[in-house]
Amino acid sequence: MKLIRTLALLALIFTPSLWTPTPLFASTPAAAAPAAGQGVWWKHALIYEIYPRSFQDSNGDGVGDLKGITERLGYLQSLGVNAIWLAPIYPSPQVDFGYDISDYENIDPQYGTLADFDRLVAEAKAHHIGIIMDMVMNHTSDKHPWFVESESSRTNPKRDWYIWRDPKGYTADGKPIPPNNWISAFGGSAWQWDPKTKQFYYHMFYKQQPDLNWRNPDVEKAMFDVCRFWLDRGVVGFRLDAVPTLFEDPLLRNEPYTGQIDAYGDRAVSDIYTNNLPEVHDVMRRLRKVVDSYPGNRVLIGETYLPNIEELDKWYGGARHDELNLPMDMQIGFINKMDASLFRERIEDVETKINGNQPLIVFDNHDNPRSWDRYGDGVHNAAIARVIASILFTTRSTAMMYYGQEIGMVTTPPKRKEDVRDPIGIRGWPKEKGRDGERTPMQWDTSKNAGFSTADVTWLPVAPNYKTVNVQVEEPDPNSLLNWYKKLIEMRRVDPALREGEETMLDPSNPNVLSYLREGPAGSPSIVVSLNFTAQPQTVSLDLAGTGVSGDKVKTLLTDDPSLESTTSLTHITLAPFASWVGSVQ
Ligand code: GLC
Repeated sequence: MKLIRTLALLALIFTPSLWTPTPLFASTPAAAAPAAGQGVWWKHALIYEIYPRSFQDSNGDGVGDLKGITERLGYLQSLGVNAIWLAPIYPSPQVDFGYDISDYENIDPQYGTLADFDRLVAEAKAHHIGIIMDMVMNHTSDKHPWFVESESSRTNPKRDWYIWRDPKGYTADGKPIPPNNWISAFGGSAWQWDPKTKQFYYHMFYKQQPDLNWRNPDVEKAMFDVCRFWLDRGVVGFRLDAVPTLFEDPLLRNEPYTGQIDAYGDRAVSDIYTNNLPEVHDVMRRLRKVVDSYPGNRVLIGETYLPNIEELDKWYGGARHDELNLPMDMQIGFINKMDASLFRERIEDVETKINGNQPLIVFDNHDNPRSWDRYGDGVHNAAIARVIASILFTTRSTAMMYYGQEIGMVTTPPKRKEDVRDPIGIRGWPKEKGRDGERTPMQWDTSKNAGFSTADVTWLPVAPNYKTVNVQVEEPDPNSLLNWYKKLIEMRRVDPALREGEETMLDPSNPNVLSYLREGPAGSPSIVVSLNFTAQPQTVSLDLAGTGVSGDKVKTLLTDDPSLESTTSLTHITLAPFASWVGSVQ
């Protein structure tokens, strides 16, 4: 498969059993909270992913932690963040840095304690920010007691909680042959031999991440109980990790070879029998019922790398709207080239082909090189980053971003194999350098380790550009990327057209400039956005005929092109290379 890769008084008030979460943002006029009474909170939310190891270290051990995140809530509120998605913080051997969970109902000591977590939830709530947990349901750690029991004998009651199969046979020299040709997303066969019980177990990811058997109802019950544990503690929702891979073909049919060789040197296969099987949708519907039994519009978000919009719509439950609230649209954010036509087509897809469900656009996460580098041309990276931010906050979508995106952090892959921490990079070096590059510590200021940690050695090195790319330097600079993000986020928070307005593409055959209208609800001005996707100046003439919106005079609301600051006409807009322009129709 394709891996694209937070007081004693407070503690009393927020004791989980005493605290029934209320709708998170109801009628609170605080800076970061969306305007009151305008629909379900997550529809207008900015969800901010934090990779806990890399955000803020509070105890000087070189690894980020929960207290560190709690210290930075003021920053997140000032940015306009409504919810934090925390990459896994559960106890884990850290083979896959937390995505290998050995206890679903606790906190890894590296990150703190359950009391630290309760404090984070309570203080975040005071900042009008919700906490979203990363829920890894596809697999556990091989050190999880469930697996330890399962591997202990063929007759153990938990044997069937994982996918155990006999070998297909043995080679002439007595080596067991795996049941089929399935390969792990992290390289090599997806089957691991257990010499003690003489069977293989299946693992989509590392061999230390055995897949759970979702055909066993006890697995679903145990995992839904885990979800209730965190919902009872006040989390506002879950990001479901690798959720399309919960089921595998019961007949274990071989997957077709694609004719290519992957980064690990294996013959690549098409994952038709191990990814996005229809059975998963029944589980999603049942999980949605569990989550909806809690007050406060808790949200279910999915890590859904899917091939097309039709498959994405199924993850919402289509017209039934009964599965995930926000499966991630990876079709837009990972186009990975500045292609205005392709962006237009995919944005239109998610606006018009998902049965009125709410799009979730995302450009950056902890598995992929940062958008700064995937879209940057080496010359206009800052302008291109502003185009990306404009799409994220002016299209009709819930917005998801990754720490550091707002300051233009760059991908900093390790230079030497011996420095690699991500096992993918160790195995795939040098073709696959792993995901360390996009996980470097948050750059706060110009002090030691960019203000991330006081340790002499941090778990990953701070990127060398931290003296110029950091929050402290960018906050007072009106032209910084950080302030571009802040302006867009605030505009989207207060502007009715950006919050609710229908979206219509303008100048739809223009291959160089992406332009669209956001129709203002009654009494509110409509908004027009025009983004130059090229390194050349581009002139556009935008015609609102047929959109139901009248007027050809405009007022600039936001632009990074000084020549457009006082533009008044829609019929002649000349955009500098990779310029962004947002105006309101008068
Ligand atoms: C998801 C996570 C990734 C992890 C994998 C296995 O893709 O985002 O970081 O390695 O699942 O859990």
